[in-house]
Amino acid sequence: MKKFACLIFLTIFIISKSYTQFKLSPEQQRSWDSLQQLTQQDYKIMLKQLHIDSTRPGPSGNPQAPNAANADELKVPAYTLPDALALKNGQKVTNANTWWQKRRPEIVEDFDKEMYGRVPAKTPKVNWQVVSTTDTTVYGIAAVKKELLGHVDNSSYPQIKVDIPLTLVVPANAKKPVPVVMEFAFVFPPGFKLPPDTSKNQPMPWQQQVLANGWAYALIIPAASQADNGAGLTQGIIGLVNKGEPRKPDDWGTLRAWAWGASRAIDYFETDKLIDAKKIAIEGLSRYGKAALVAIAYEPRIAIGFIGSSGAGGAKVLRHVFGEQVENLASSGEYHWFAGNFIKYAGPLTQNDLPVDAHELIALCAPRPVFISVGSPKVEGQWIDAKGMFLAAVSAGPVYKLLGKKDMGTTEMPAIESALIDGDIAFRQHSGGHTTAPNWATFLMFANKYFTTNK
Ligand code: GCU
Repeated sequence: MKKFACLIFLTIFIISKSYTQFKLSPEQQRSWDSLQQLTQQDYKIMLKQLHIDSTRPGPSGNPQAPNAANADELKVPAYTLPDALALKNGQKVTNANTWWQKRRPEIVEDFDKEMYGRVPAKTPKVNWQVVSTTDTTVYGIAAVKKELLGHVDNSSYPQIKVDIPLTLVVPANAKKPVPVVMEFAFVFPPGFKLPPDTSKNQPMPWQQQVLANGWAYALIIPAASQADNGAGLTQGIIGLVNKGEPRKPDDWGTLRAWAWGASRAIDYFETDKLIDAKKIAIEGLSRYGKAALVAIAYEPRIAIGFIGSSGAGGAKVLRHVFGEQVENLASSGEYHWFAGNFIKYAGPLTQNDLPVDAHELIALCAPRPVFISVGSPKVEGQWIDAKGMFLAAVSAGPVYKLLGKKDMGTTEMPAIESALIDGDIAFRQHSGGHTTAPNWATFLMFANKYFTTNK
């Protein structure tokens, strides 16, 4: 358990490290070094299974570096996207039935095998314990707060213990079951501060907006079901199912493990009378934006998605060579998010060899509404590739239309702060940084079209 707590801390540390310098104590430094070593070992085991000696290095996220990632739209090489509406045998998909029966399963199989990995056919049961229920006030709104702990059945391999914390906050005045927005929550170590948000008009905290809208919100801690590093792959839910052994090349990666945790939380929501389990939204930022998109793509019980700055490995077209690249995702720092097979695309294969691309991940969400959110390149930087995400949203459009829904209605990238929310795929680039905060109000406006609230 101590080891697991340490892994969680280090996971949090890695996330923190991507935002700011964070000083480690000597003991933390030793754990960090050993974690790096274990990650390298696991990475090598996977390369061996793939018969790969090395991979191509990715570009740098530092715009000043000599090997900086491309940030010039004019330098993006031409590419062809896989056709979401063409079967592998070349036949066009012209009706919903063929989409559901044939094409969608083909796309799912490609994502399973080559990118995100397969969730095992049988995963252990999660027993949700309500640790506490409290009447409280959140931002001046009367609410009921439940703290839960999901105990994962580890009788098949007791050496690994997994407990998933979940917080649920429901407006106290609700007269009927309410929708819930679940966030993949970052947890930062004491003393750690995110860089201040420089947006001019600070929005209301999102939790306040959600409660004022008559909905509940929930926070799930992804790193509790699966640590955010390669070293953790023989632990957490992935390690539990594999009985502590390393993954096979098409086994699930961390993004799917985090999404699995969200699905288990939904199992709980379905038993809670305060919640309308037909109206579940998922939200996440950055790596958790990727996880949120993977979650809604695979989990039909999620009714709407709010996908924040998910970038490469999330909503960004990987063939759009701008910002973060497949080579970065497939490196030892990020490969754990994916199936081992995905590493092949950083050597000998390339992003153009992928049988799928991000527009098809969005298409897997169809006909359910999805809101793609990103910040301004001036504040957030170019790593995330706002245009690449917009292009994926455009190219998912034909699938939504085939299913009788509306695409974004344009192929022109809108100006910053100009929302596209008339269709069932929504897009908005806010003027702030690496956050979803400035887009919550627009997301709620979009989501209110689908969820009638009990305000
Ligand atoms: C890095 C990584 C991104 C990821 C981000 C985050 O920047 O390259 O893919 O989304 O971290 O999660 O903070």
